[in-house]
Amino acid sequence: MHPMRPRCHGSPLLCLSAVLLACALLAGPAVADGVTPSEARRLRDEVKDMFYHAFDGYMQHAFPLDELRPLSCQGEDSLGGYALTLIDSLDTLALLGDKERFSAGVEWVGKNIRFDINKTVSVFETNIRILGGLLSAHLIASDYATGMRIDSYNDQLLHLAVDLAQRLLPAFDTPTGIPFGSVNLLYGVDDDESKITSTAGGGTLSLEFGVLSRLTNNTVFERVTKNSVRGIWARRSKLNLVGAHINVFTGEWTQKDAGIGTSIDSFYEYLLKAYLLFGDEEYLYVFQEAYKAVMHYLHHDPWYIEVNMNSGATVWPLFNSLQAFWPGLQVLAGDVDPAIRTHAAFFSVWKKYGFTPEGFNLATSTVQNGQRSYPLRPELIESTYWLFKATRDYRCVFLCKVP
Ligand SMILES: *[C@@H]1O[C@H](CO)[C@@H](O)[C@H](O)[C@H]1NC(C)=O
Ligand SMILES: *[C@@H]1O[C@H](CO)[C@@H](O)[C@H](O)[C@H]1NC(C)=O
Repeated sequence: MHPMRPRCHGSPLLCLSAVLLACALLAGPAVADGVTPSEARRLRDEVKDMFYHAFDGYMQHAFPLDELRPLSCQGEDSLGGYALTLIDSLDTLALLGDKERFSAGVEWVGKNIRFDINKTVSVFETNIRILGGLLSAHLIASDYATGMRIDSYNDQLLHLAVDLAQRLLPAFDTPTGIPFGSVNLLYGVDDDESKITSTAGGGTLSLEFGVLSRLTNNTVFERVTKNSVRGIWARRSKLNLVGAHINVFTGEWTQKDAGIGTSIDSFYEYLLKAYLLFGDEEYLYVFQEAYKAVMHYLHHDPWYIEVNMNSGATVWPLFNSLQAFWPGLQVLAGDVDPAIRTHAAFFSVWKKYGFTPEGFNLATSTVQNGQRSYPLRPELIESTYWLFKATRDYRCVFLCKVP
């Protein structure tokens, strides 16, 4: 269903040199080499103000619905109808040191949220936002070391997390172990549910489910998500690449474009992070093999393209904004030099438009047709943060300021 797939007809190097030239022309004057402490504090406060603008707006106009529609100023239930934005924001409140709102949020969620509802929800979104939000808030609220411990807290969010995860489990009952994309929280998988899911959908579950297993001593959660990763990896191509969409019954790839962005991205992210969090070397081994293949077949320094997973032939010479997490992942993997070059290239796209469009065509150096939007993606700034942590190069901080 992809409209007019663009192809880079000439040599990829020619296409890329056009992009590099464009970057050279875009590069502005050199920036100074540091920020003063007061400048850093001002930037920090600006970030806080932005957060509260969004969070207070949500609480005032949309809560307890999932999301705020910023133009009509109305709420809507876009996911499952379980106060998504509040649950998703709890760890940010703790990070900002806002004990009052964090405690109030945890208490409200513990008293009011229920998952025995007739709603069909995305397994992926429910995992990363709701299960992840509940578990991080639980860990923060239970631990003196966070400074956010709530004395009256009694594991309510952990109980909710267990209940929710159990309602997601029916999705994993497939021949490949790769879960359906959606599941009904009350009735299990709908009869007419699609058997096609994305690689990210099946590979972005192991952190939350693994933490839940360790907190409860119930191994089932960790087991099903590891099984899903194995199900995907067992169907990799001879080049050690994975495609974008797969049939969870037959294991056939229905979309064979290998890339690090759309539909695949966090499969790679969770492999490495699952190893870092749990010390499980199976995840490290798979990550290393998968990473080598990406750097061999997809990396056209400093960009990443999409290729056919079997032949390695270029299909999409595109930057897509979801790829922007990759330099941050490389920092975690200890591969900082290519991360710096790629981050600079991705950031040149940001500078050109004031944000990263969903798709940027590397062959023409223009926004890809139909991919002009910017749905507030955090990937580029997250990579910037990790790079700054690794290099302490303050130019990263300057890069973040939009003039
Ligand atoms: C569950 O929700 C669906 C979709 O809203 C509805 O068609 C169905 O009747 C509901 N089932 C029950 C048992 O309430
Ligand atoms: C899990 O097992 C450990 C070690 O046996 C034990 O200390 C802990 O209390 C158990 N946790 C739960 C939630 O059962």
